[in-house]
Amino acid sequence: MNKNINVVSVSSEMVPLAKSGGLGDVCGALPGQLQRIGCPTTCFLPAYRTALQSGLPIQPTSIAFTIPIGNKVMACRLLETRLPRGDVLVYLIDQPHYFDRPGLYLDQHGEYRDNCERFCFFCRAVVEAIQRLELPVDIVHCHDWQTGLIPALISAHYNGLSWMRSARTVMTIHNLAYQGQFWHYDMPLTGLGWEHFHWQRMEFHGHLNLLKTGIVYADKITTVSPTYAREITTPEHGCGLDPILRQREADLVGIVNGVDYEQWNPETDPHLPVPYGPQRWREGKAQCKVALQQELGLRVDAAVPLIGIVSRLVDQKGWDLILPLLRQWVQHREVQWAILGTGEQRYEQPLRELADEHPQLLAARLEFSEALAHRIEAGSDMFLMPSRYEPCGLNQLYSLKYGTVPIVNPTGGLADTVVDATPDAIAEHRATGFYLPSYSLEGLEQALRRAVDVYQRQPPTWGRIVEQGMLQDWSWHRSAEHYRQVYLSALALGRETPALTEASDAYDR
Ligand code: ADP
Ligand code: GLC
Repeated sequence: MNKNINVVSVSSEMVPLAKSGGLGDVCGALPGQLQRIGCPTTCFLPAYRTALQSGLPIQPTSIAFTIPIGNKVMACRLLETRLPRGDVLVYLIDQPHYFDRPGLYLDQHGEYRDNCERFCFFCRAVVEAIQRLELPVDIVHCHDWQTGLIPALISAHYNGLSWMRSARTVMTIHNLAYQGQFWHYDMPLTGLGWEHFHWQRMEFHGHLNLLKTGIVYADKITTVSPTYAREITTPEHGCGLDPILRQREADLVGIVNGVDYEQWNPETDPHLPVPYGPQRWREGKAQCKVALQQELGLRVDAAVPLIGIVSRLVDQKGWDLILPLLRQWVQHREVQWAILGTGEQRYEQPLRELADEHPQLLAARLEFSEALAHRIEAGSDMFLMPSRYEPCGLNQLYSLKYGTVPIVNPTGGLADTVVDATPDAIAEHRATGFYLPSYSLEGLEQALRRAVDVYQRQPPTWGRIVEQGMLQDWSWHRSAEHYRQVYLSALALGRETPALTEASDAYDR
């Protein structure tokens, strides 16, 4: 019998308490799965307003303390709750000044200006809470820049505390482009001395960089697909951190995200007008399509191809290609669009205009709606995700399950999870989607034309592609086991901060 590995998972999002994107889905689902394979997991999250209003029963604990931060002393109360299935304990770091706000990271005026202070406070409070709760901890698993300070705190202070001496840290990069980079005057907020503000530690081109901090100090680093793990060690996708990632290559692993099929399964999805599975998908999807066309005010038409998009409206997701394509296609092609997203004004405004001009062909809902996201996955024939880069991506995995054929740019996790419908792949019953031949407007057009052509002219082939996707299993089981292996390899390490050689030529400065 294997010994249990006690995990503490720290993140800035967690479904159903707080979500802005896939990070929330992953951090809400992985702990429960880890729990089932011998890794009891306790989670930490900020007590955001959305978390307190989520409807989950939240209890106070007897634990309260203060953190000196900059020239202030801030109080922290620890609250607790359990995820809906009851098996995962979540501690919430409560400090209303930092977290009782309308958004997680930003509001209508932009990013919160004290984000560095908010998340340094969060990290320092988590470390203090682990100590006060006397939690058994083998692994502290940190997600993204908001938690990047934690491996440094543990590495810097381990001499004093026995749990820090024995615990190992894992840093998961969900998106290398978001690094938590702040001016150097924020360094005192970290609680660490200036000796850490060093080009091989926390400093990056004169700034404090919290993701780099996590990458440097964590015992193991993971990211969310094998292809992205390779890509981020190159200058093209490394966002400036590729030298340090190359230096830590031996400790870097790519693990594809899983899907929580209790949330995302058309056979049981409460958001859909009718349930369907791989057996009766034609009838089920046809009904979901009509209902979606009605809901969005599109012309009700069973035959017209309906393409869905659920996406943050940011550069990463390929909007610089999608918008010009939409402008052309709404003029000349009988294809409908169901778009759900929020993000940058430069994308929201033109989408609003296109939807006003062509209401029968294009619907754009510029809001965050979990329920509509599910109905778009079910009611669309195809799902478009031409991301410029994509660490993993979850929507293409949801699309596969919902029989909605993904059209993707084969980068990062999209390349690892979708198989292009080449003649060989179709013949060998492996095809599940369509690839852009290049990241360009022409490439996007070609992929869409190819998909629409198979949809309209080769229904049996289309049906096979749909069914092959629906029958795939991207559940968390395999990925959680992979994380367990990473934890084991971290626990086998000694205590030195890894990979930090003073005279490294891996940095070009
Ligand atoms: P990313 O995390 O980069 O945004 P992912 O594909 O990993 O991309 O995950 C996105 C998640 O956020 C999915 O669960 C998707 O359904 C959800 N999502 C994105 N935008 C919206 C929106 N406007 N309304 C509802 N859900 C959304
Ligand atoms: C990030 C990435 C996305 C990934 C998600 C969860 O937001 O952009 O590709 O699926 O994190 O890991």
